Amino acid sequence: MNENDFESRLILRGRPPTKSHGFVNPKLVRGSTVLYENCAQRQTIGARRLEQEEIYGLYGTETHFALEALVAEIEGGTRCQIVSTGLAAITAPLLAYLRTGDTVFVPDSVYGPTRRFCDTILRRYGVQTRYYDPLISEHQLRSLIPSSLRVMMVESPGSHTFEVQDVPMISKVAHEVGAKVFMDNTWGIRTFQPFRHGVDVSIQSLTKYVGGHSDILLGAITVTSEEDWAWLRHGVLDLGQYASPDDCWLALRGARTLAVRLDRQGESALKIARWLADQPEIQRVLHPALPSCPGHEFWMRDYSGSCGLFGVVFAPQYDYQAVTAMVDALRLFGIGASWGGYESLALPTSFTITRTEGSGNFGGEMLRLQIGLEHTEDLITDLKAGLAVLRSHSSTVRDESILTNP
Ligand SMILES: Cc1ncc(COP(=O)(O)O)c(C=O)c1O
Repeated sequence: MNENDFESRLILRGRPPTKSHGFVNPKLVRGSTVLYENCAQRQTIGARRLEQEEIYGLYGTETHFALEALVAEIEGGTRCQIVSTGLAAITAPLLAYLRTGDTVFVPDSVYGPTRRFCDTILRRYGVQTRYYDPLISEHQLRSLIPSSLRVMMVESPGSHTFEVQDVPMISKVAHEVGAKVFMDNTWGIRTFQPFRHGVDVSIQSLTKYVGGHSDILLGAITVTSEEDWAWLRHGVLDLGQYASPDDCWLALRGARTLAVRLDRQGESALKIARWLADQPEIQRVLHPALPSCPGHEFWMRDYSGSCGLFGVVFAPQYDYQAVTAMVDALRLFGIGASWGGYESLALPTSFTITRTEGSGNFGGEMLRLQIGLEHTEDLITDLKAGLAVLRSHSSTVRDESILTNP
Protein backbone atom coordinates (compact mmCIF):
# COMPACT_ATOMS: atom_id res chain seq x y z
CA MET A 1 0.00 0.00 0.00
CA ASN A 2 1.28 3.41 -0.89
CA GLU A 3 0.37 5.83 1.89
CA ASN A 4 0.63 8.74 -0.49
CA ASP A 5 -2.39 7.58 -2.42
CA PHE A 6 -5.36 9.87 -1.96
CA GLU A 7 -7.55 6.92 -0.95
CA SER A 8 -5.14 5.78 1.78
CA ARG A 9 -4.62 9.26 3.13
CA LEU A 10 -8.38 9.70 3.52
CA ILE A 11 -8.46 6.59 5.65
CA LEU A 12 -5.30 7.15 7.70
CA ARG A 13 -5.21 10.87 8.42
CA GLY A 14 -7.31 12.77 10.94
CA ARG A 15 -7.79 9.79 13.25
CA PRO A 16 -5.87 7.85 15.90
CA PRO A 17 -2.96 5.74 14.63
CA THR A 18 -3.92 2.30 13.31
CA LYS A 19 -1.93 0.49 15.98
CA SER A 20 -3.28 2.44 18.97
CA HIS A 21 -5.68 1.02 21.53
CA GLY A 22 -9.13 2.63 21.35
CA PHE A 23 -11.93 3.52 18.99
CA VAL A 24 -11.26 3.83 15.29
CA ASN A 25 -12.64 7.36 14.98
CA PRO A 26 -11.50 10.61 16.62
CA LYS A 27 -13.56 11.82 19.55
CA LEU A 28 -16.39 14.28 19.17
CA VAL A 29 -15.28 17.04 21.55
CA ARG A 30 -17.67 19.87 22.32
CA GLY A 31 -16.51 22.67 24.55
CA SER A 32 -16.05 26.32 25.27
CA THR A 33 -13.98 26.55 28.48
CA VAL A 34 -10.64 24.80 28.74
CA LEU A 35 -9.22 24.47 32.27
CA TYR A 36 -5.60 25.43 32.85
CA GLU A 37 -3.37 23.85 35.45
CA ASN A 38 -2.42 27.16 37.03
CA CYS A 39 -2.38 30.92 36.41
CA ALA A 40 1.07 30.84 34.89
CA GLN A 41 -0.19 28.49 32.18
CA ARG A 42 -3.13 30.82 31.58
CA GLN A 43 -0.74 33.72 30.94
CA THR A 44 1.09 31.94 28.14
CA ILE A 45 -1.91 31.02 25.99
CA GLY A 46 -2.09 34.29 24.06
CA ALA A 47 1.26 33.49 22.51
CA ARG A 48 -0.03 30.14 21.25
CA ARG A 49 -2.87 31.60 19.21
CA LEU A 50 -1.38 30.37 15.95
CA GLU A 51 -1.11 26.80 17.19
CA GLN A 52 -3.88 24.28 16.75
CA GLU A 53 -4.18 23.53 20.46
CA GLU A 54 -7.09 23.32 22.87
CA ILE A 55 -6.91 26.79 24.44
CA TYR A 56 -10.53 27.93 24.26
CA GLY A 57 -13.47 26.56 22.25
CA LEU A 58 -13.04 29.22 19.54
CA TYR A 59 -9.50 28.03 18.83
CA GLY A 60 -10.81 24.56 18.04
CA THR A 61 -11.07 21.15 19.62
CA GLU A 62 -9.52 17.77 18.91
CA THR A 63 -12.37 17.16 16.44
CA HIS A 64 -11.63 20.35 14.49
CA PHE A 65 -7.91 19.59 14.42
CA ALA A 66 -8.51 16.09 13.05
CA LEU A 67 -10.57 17.48 10.16
CA GLU A 68 -8.09 20.30 9.58
CA ALA A 69 -5.22 17.81 9.32
CA LEU A 70 -7.17 15.71 6.85
CA VAL A 71 -8.22 18.62 4.61
CA ALA A 72 -4.69 20.09 4.61
CA GLU A 73 -3.51 16.70 3.38
CA ILE A 74 -6.14 16.45 0.61
CA GLU A 75 -5.39 19.96 -0.62
CA GLY A 76 -1.63 19.46 -0.48
CA GLY A 77 -1.15 22.27 2.08
CA THR A 78 0.36 22.50 5.54
CA ARG A 79 -2.27 24.27 7.67
CA CYS A 80 -6.04 24.37 7.41
CA GLN A 81 -8.68 26.37 9.21
CA ILE A 82 -12.25 25.10 9.39
CA VAL A 83 -15.03 27.71 9.35
CA SER A 84 -18.81 27.59 9.52
CA THR A 85 -19.66 27.48 5.79
CA GLY A 86 -18.05 27.42 2.36
CA LEU A 87 -19.10 31.04 1.93
CA ALA A 88 -17.33 31.97 5.18
CA ALA A 89 -14.24 30.22 3.82
CA ILE A 90 -14.32 32.81 1.01
CA THR A 91 -15.30 35.91 2.96
CA ALA A 92 -13.10 35.38 6.05
CA PRO A 93 -9.75 35.31 4.18
CA LEU A 94 -10.86 38.25 2.00
CA LEU A 95 -11.54 40.27 5.16
CA ALA A 96 -8.34 39.03 6.75
CA TYR A 97 -6.09 40.14 3.86
CA LEU A 98 -7.77 43.20 2.34
CA ARG A 99 -7.47 46.80 3.52
CA THR A 100 -9.21 50.01 2.48
CA GLY A 101 -7.80 51.14 -0.87
CA ASP A 102 -6.94 47.61 -2.02
CA THR A 103 -8.29 46.01 -5.19
CA VAL A 104 -9.45 42.41 -5.54
CA PHE A 105 -9.78 40.71 -8.93
CA VAL A 106 -12.67 38.26 -9.19
CA PRO A 107 -13.65 36.08 -12.19
CA ASP A 108 -16.93 37.08 -13.82
CA SER A 109 -18.05 33.45 -13.45
CA VAL A 110 -17.76 33.53 -9.65
CA TYR A 111 -20.23 31.90 -7.26
CA GLY A 112 -23.07 34.47 -6.80
CA PRO A 113 -22.76 35.06 -3.04
CA THR A 114 -19.02 35.83 -3.44
CA ARG A 115 -19.97 38.55 -5.94
CA ARG A 116 -22.59 39.88 -3.58
CA PHE A 117 -20.09 40.03 -0.70
CA CYS A 118 -17.65 41.97 -2.87
CA ASP A 119 -20.34 44.36 -4.12
CA THR A 120 -21.74 45.10 -0.66
CA ILE A 121 -19.47 44.59 2.34
CA LEU A 122 -16.10 44.97 0.61
CA ARG A 123 -17.33 48.04 -1.23
CA ARG A 124 -18.51 49.60 2.06
CA TYR A 125 -15.01 49.08 3.48
CA GLY A 126 -13.42 50.82 0.53
CA VAL A 127 -12.11 47.74 -1.28
CA GLN A 128 -12.59 47.84 -5.04
CA THR A 129 -13.61 44.68 -6.91
CA ARG A 130 -12.66 44.30 -10.54
CA TYR A 131 -14.39 41.45 -12.37
CA TYR A 132 -12.45 39.80 -15.18
CA ASP A 133 -13.30 37.35 -17.94
CA PRO A 134 -12.44 33.90 -16.51
CA LEU A 135 -10.77 33.05 -19.84
CA ILE A 136 -8.75 36.25 -20.02
CA SER A 137 -5.40 36.12 -21.85
CA GLU A 138 -2.11 36.85 -20.11
CA HIS A 139 -1.67 40.02 -22.12
CA GLN A 140 -5.16 41.32 -21.27
CA LEU A 141 -4.82 40.47 -17.61
CA ARG A 142 -1.48 42.28 -17.33
CA SER A 143 -2.93 45.36 -18.94
CA LEU A 144 -5.73 45.55 -16.32
CA ILE A 145 -3.74 45.13 -13.14
CA PRO A 146 -3.50 48.19 -10.87
CA SER A 147 -0.77 48.70 -8.27
CA SER A 148 -3.46 48.37 -5.57
CA LEU A 149 -4.08 44.70 -6.44
CA ARG A 150 -3.80 42.67 -3.26
CA VAL A 151 -5.89 39.55 -3.92
CA MET A 152 -6.50 37.66 -7.17
CA MET A 153 -9.43 35.26 -6.89
CA VAL A 154 -9.93 32.25 -9.13
CA GLU A 155 -12.82 29.82 -9.16
CA SER A 156 -12.18 27.02 -11.56
CA PRO A 157 -14.35 25.79 -13.10
CA GLY A 158 -17.11 28.36 -12.53
CA SER A 159 -19.78 26.54 -10.56
CA HIS A 160 -22.59 27.49 -12.96
CA THR A 161 -20.90 28.01 -16.32
CA PHE A 162 -17.84 25.74 -15.92
CA GLU A 163 -15.14 27.85 -17.56
CA VAL A 164 -11.83 26.26 -16.56
CA GLN A 165 -9.28 28.95 -15.75
CA ASP A 166 -5.58 29.10 -16.57
CA VAL A 167 -4.61 29.13 -12.90
CA PRO A 168 -0.80 28.93 -13.35
CA MET A 169 -0.80 31.91 -15.72
CA ILE A 170 -3.13 33.98 -13.52
CA SER A 171 -1.05 33.14 -10.42
CA LYS A 172 2.17 34.11 -12.17
CA VAL A 173 0.80 37.50 -13.21
CA ALA A 174 -0.63 38.16 -9.72
CA HIS A 175 2.63 37.23 -8.00
CA GLU A 176 4.58 39.60 -10.24
CA VAL A 177 2.82 42.50 -8.51
CA GLY A 178 2.96 40.92 -5.05
CA ALA A 179 -0.72 39.93 -4.88
CA LYS A 180 -1.99 36.76 -3.19
CA VAL A 181 -3.93 34.14 -5.15
CA PHE A 182 -7.10 32.74 -3.55
CA MET A 183 -8.82 29.82 -5.22
CA ASP A 184 -12.27 28.36 -4.66
CA ASN A 185 -11.21 24.77 -5.39
CA THR A 186 -14.44 23.05 -4.36
CA TRP A 187 -15.03 21.43 -7.78
CA GLY A 188 -11.41 20.33 -8.03
CA ILE A 189 -11.22 18.45 -4.74
CA ARG A 190 -8.85 15.56 -5.38
CA THR A 191 -8.30 16.38 -9.06
CA PHE A 192 -6.60 19.78 -8.80
CA GLN A 193 -3.59 20.43 -6.58
CA PRO A 194 -3.85 24.20 -5.98
CA PHE A 195 -0.42 24.80 -4.46
CA ARG A 196 1.38 23.15 -7.35
CA HIS A 197 -0.26 25.71 -9.65
CA GLY A 198 0.65 28.89 -7.79
CA VAL A 199 -2.30 29.28 -5.42
CA ASP A 200 -1.59 30.77 -1.96
CA VAL A 201 -4.94 30.20 -0.25
CA SER A 202 -7.20 27.31 -1.22
CA ILE A 203 -10.88 27.32 -0.31
CA GLN A 204 -13.21 24.36 -0.03
CA SER A 205 -16.91 24.20 0.70
CA LEU A 206 -16.90 20.95 2.70
CA THR A 207 -20.69 21.14 2.47
CA LYS A 208 -20.28 19.56 -0.97
CA TYR A 209 -18.29 16.33 -1.49
CA VAL A 210 -16.52 16.02 1.86
CA GLY A 211 -19.80 16.19 3.82
CA GLY A 212 -21.32 14.26 0.94
CA HIS A 213 -24.74 13.69 2.48
CA SER A 214 -26.47 17.10 2.19
CA ASP A 215 -26.75 17.43 5.96
CA ILE A 216 -24.05 19.90 7.03
CA LEU A 217 -22.57 23.28 6.11
CA LEU A 218 -18.81 23.73 6.55
CA GLY A 219 -15.85 25.43 4.92
CA ALA A 220 -12.08 24.99 4.91
CA ILE A 221 -9.21 27.36 4.12
CA THR A 222 -5.78 25.84 3.48
CA VAL A 223 -2.37 27.48 3.11
CA THR A 224 1.25 26.35 2.77
CA SER A 225 3.27 29.16 4.34
CA GLU A 226 3.47 30.26 7.96
CA GLU A 227 3.13 33.87 6.82
CA ASP A 228 -0.22 33.10 5.19
CA TRP A 229 -1.23 31.06 8.21
CA ALA A 230 -0.68 34.07 10.48
CA TRP A 231 -2.86 36.32 8.27
CA LEU A 232 -5.55 33.72 8.04
CA ARG A 233 -5.60 32.41 11.60
CA HIS A 234 -5.64 35.85 13.23
CA GLY A 235 -8.31 37.06 10.78
CA VAL A 236 -10.58 34.07 11.32
CA LEU A 237 -10.29 34.16 15.12
CA ASP A 238 -10.77 37.94 15.22
CA LEU A 239 -13.98 37.51 13.24
CA GLY A 240 -15.19 34.95 15.79
CA GLN A 241 -15.51 32.30 13.08
CA TYR A 242 -16.29 28.87 14.45
CA ALA A 243 -17.74 25.58 13.24
CA SER A 244 -19.75 23.08 15.21
CA PRO A 245 -17.65 20.06 16.27
CA ASP A 246 -20.66 17.85 15.48
CA ASP A 247 -20.52 19.02 11.87
CA CYS A 248 -16.74 18.52 11.80
CA TRP A 249 -17.24 14.98 13.04
CA LEU A 250 -19.80 14.33 10.29
CA ALA A 251 -17.40 15.80 7.72
CA LEU A 252 -14.68 13.43 8.94
CA ARG A 253 -17.08 10.53 8.51
CA GLY A 254 -18.01 11.76 5.04
CA ALA A 255 -14.34 12.11 4.08
CA ARG A 256 -13.65 8.40 4.63
CA THR A 257 -15.79 7.51 1.61
CA LEU A 258 -14.91 10.59 -0.45
CA ALA A 259 -12.73 8.76 -2.97
CA VAL A 260 -15.28 6.09 -3.86
CA ARG A 261 -18.10 8.60 -4.12
CA LEU A 262 -16.03 10.91 -6.32
CA ASP A 263 -15.05 7.98 -8.56
CA ARG A 264 -18.59 6.75 -8.94
CA GLN A 265 -20.26 10.14 -9.32
CA GLY A 266 -17.55 11.41 -11.66
CA GLU A 267 -17.81 8.34 -13.88
CA SER A 268 -21.59 8.48 -13.98
CA ALA A 269 -21.58 12.24 -14.72
CA LEU A 270 -19.17 11.82 -17.62
CA LYS A 271 -21.29 9.05 -19.13
CA ILE A 272 -24.44 11.18 -18.80
CA ALA A 273 -22.64 14.26 -20.18
CA ARG A 274 -21.56 12.28 -23.26
CA TRP A 275 -25.06 10.94 -23.74
CA LEU A 276 -26.53 14.44 -23.46
CA ALA A 277 -24.02 15.76 -26.02
CA ASP A 278 -25.65 13.42 -28.58
CA GLN A 279 -29.20 14.65 -27.95
CA PRO A 280 -30.58 17.15 -30.50
CA GLU A 281 -32.18 19.28 -27.76
CA ILE A 282 -28.74 20.03 -26.30
CA GLN A 283 -26.66 22.73 -27.95
CA ARG A 284 -23.60 22.32 -25.77
CA VAL A 285 -22.40 20.35 -22.76
CA LEU A 286 -20.38 22.31 -20.20
CA HIS A 287 -18.36 19.48 -18.68
CA PRO A 288 -14.66 20.36 -18.22
CA ALA A 289 -13.60 16.93 -19.52
CA LEU A 290 -15.35 17.51 -22.87
CA PRO A 291 -13.92 19.75 -25.63
CA SER A 292 -17.21 21.69 -25.74
CA CYS A 293 -16.42 23.21 -22.32
CA PRO A 294 -14.68 26.59 -22.28
CA GLY A 295 -11.13 26.17 -20.96
CA HIS A 296 -11.13 22.40 -21.62
CA GLU A 297 -7.45 22.67 -22.61
CA PHE A 298 -6.57 23.86 -19.07
CA TRP A 299 -8.52 20.97 -17.59
CA MET A 300 -6.51 18.60 -19.82
CA ARG A 301 -3.25 20.17 -18.67
CA ASP A 302 -3.90 20.69 -14.94
CA TYR A 303 -6.60 18.32 -13.68
CA SER A 304 -6.42 14.59 -13.02
CA GLY A 305 -10.19 14.00 -13.29
CA SER A 306 -13.61 15.49 -12.73
CA CYS A 307 -16.57 15.24 -10.38
CA GLY A 308 -20.32 14.89 -10.69
CA LEU A 309 -21.24 18.52 -11.44
CA PHE A 310 -21.67 19.91 -14.96
CA GLY A 311 -24.03 21.96 -17.08
CA VAL A 312 -25.85 21.90 -20.40
CA VAL A 313 -27.01 24.61 -22.77
CA PHE A 314 -30.27 23.88 -24.58
CA ALA A 315 -30.91 24.58 -28.26
CA PRO A 316 -32.34 28.11 -28.73
CA GLN A 317 -35.93 26.97 -29.40
CA TYR A 318 -36.30 25.82 -25.76
CA ASP A 319 -37.21 28.65 -23.43
CA TYR A 320 -37.16 28.89 -19.65
CA GLN A 321 -40.74 27.54 -19.35
CA ALA A 322 -39.78 24.47 -21.40
CA VAL A 323 -36.75 23.83 -19.19
CA THR A 324 -38.73 24.18 -15.97
CA ALA A 325 -41.41 21.83 -17.36
CA MET A 326 -38.66 19.31 -18.05
CA VAL A 327 -37.12 19.68 -14.58
CA ASP A 328 -40.50 19.45 -12.86
CA ALA A 329 -41.13 16.18 -14.72
CA LEU A 330 -37.88 14.51 -13.60
CA ARG A 331 -38.43 11.79 -11.02
CA LEU A 332 -34.90 11.10 -9.78
CA PHE A 333 -33.49 14.63 -9.82
CA GLY A 334 -34.42 16.93 -6.95
CA ILE A 335 -34.60 20.67 -7.54
CA GLY A 336 -32.15 22.28 -5.18
CA ALA A 337 -29.06 24.38 -4.67
CA SER A 338 -25.73 22.96 -3.55
CA TRP A 339 -24.08 19.80 -4.83
CA GLY A 340 -21.72 16.99 -3.86
CA GLY A 341 -24.38 15.01 -1.98
CA TYR A 342 -25.32 11.39 -2.72
CA GLU A 343 -28.51 12.44 -4.52
CA SER A 344 -28.98 13.89 -7.99
CA LEU A 345 -30.15 17.48 -8.51
CA ALA A 346 -31.18 19.58 -11.48
CA LEU A 347 -31.22 23.36 -11.41
CA PRO A 348 -32.13 25.77 -14.23
CA THR A 349 -29.38 28.37 -13.98
CA SER A 350 -29.80 31.09 -16.60
CA PHE A 351 -31.67 33.43 -14.27
CA THR A 352 -29.09 33.04 -11.48
CA ILE A 353 -26.13 34.11 -13.61
CA THR A 354 -24.84 37.67 -13.25
CA ARG A 355 -22.14 38.99 -15.58
CA THR A 356 -20.60 42.40 -15.84
CA GLU A 357 -17.75 41.71 -18.24
CA GLY A 358 -19.84 40.29 -21.07
CA SER A 359 -18.46 36.77 -20.67
CA GLY A 360 -20.77 33.79 -20.38
CA ASN A 361 -23.31 34.27 -23.14
CA PHE A 362 -23.97 30.67 -24.12
CA GLY A 363 -26.95 31.36 -26.41
CA GLY A 364 -29.53 29.16 -24.75
CA GLU A 365 -31.20 28.20 -21.49
CA MET A 366 -28.92 26.41 -19.07
CA LEU A 367 -29.33 23.57 -16.63
CA ARG A 368 -26.89 22.43 -13.97
CA LEU A 369 -26.84 18.75 -13.09
CA GLN A 370 -25.40 17.26 -9.92
CA ILE A 371 -25.08 13.54 -10.48
CA GLY A 372 -25.59 11.41 -7.39
CA LEU A 373 -25.14 7.72 -6.63
CA GLU A 374 -28.29 6.44 -8.36
CA HIS A 375 -27.76 3.95 -11.19
CA THR A 376 -26.51 5.79 -14.28
CA GLU A 377 -28.99 4.11 -16.61
CA ASP A 378 -31.90 5.10 -14.35
CA LEU A 379 -30.74 8.72 -14.51
CA ILE A 380 -30.48 8.57 -18.31
CA THR A 381 -33.96 7.07 -18.55
CA ASP A 382 -35.27 9.90 -16.36
CA LEU A 383 -33.52 12.56 -18.47
CA LYS A 384 -34.85 10.92 -21.67
CA ALA A 385 -38.40 11.28 -20.36
CA GLY A 386 -37.60 14.86 -19.31
CA LEU A 387 -36.37 15.74 -22.80
CA ALA A 388 -39.67 14.46 -24.24
CA VAL A 389 -41.48 16.95 -21.96
CA LEU A 390 -39.04 19.68 -23.05
CA ARG A 391 -39.79 18.95 -26.74
CA SER A 392 -43.50 19.26 -26.13
CA HIS A 393 -42.84 22.83 -24.91
CA SER A 394 -40.58 23.97 -27.73
CA SER A 395 -41.24 27.52 -28.93
CA THR A 396 -40.06 29.48 -31.91
CA VAL A 397 -39.70 32.75 -30.00
CA ARG A 398 -37.38 32.89 -27.01
CA ASP A 399 -38.44 35.10 -24.09
CA GLU A 400 -35.29 37.13 -23.37
CA SER A 401 -36.83 38.83 -20.30
CA ILE A 402 -36.44 35.62 -18.32
CA LEU A 403 -32.65 35.96 -18.55
CA THR A 404 -32.75 39.20 -16.57
CA ASN A 405 -31.76 38.82 -12.96
CA PRO A 406 -34.43 39.47 -10.34
C1 LIG B 1 -18.29 26.92 -5.85
C2 LIG B 1 -18.90 27.15 -4.52
N1 LIG B 1 -18.17 27.75 -3.57
C3 LIG B 1 -18.68 27.99 -2.35
C4 LIG B 1 -19.97 27.65 -2.04
C5 LIG B 1 -20.51 27.99 -0.68
O1 LIG B 1 -20.58 26.86 0.12
P1 LIG B 1 -21.55 26.77 1.35
O2 LIG B 1 -22.90 26.39 0.82
O3 LIG B 1 -20.91 25.71 2.20
O4 LIG B 1 -21.55 28.09 2.04
C6 LIG B 1 -20.77 27.03 -3.00
C7 LIG B 1 -22.15 26.65 -2.68
O5 LIG B 1 -22.95 26.28 -3.49
C8 LIG B 1 -20.22 26.77 -4.28
O6 LIG B 1 -20.93 26.20 -5.25
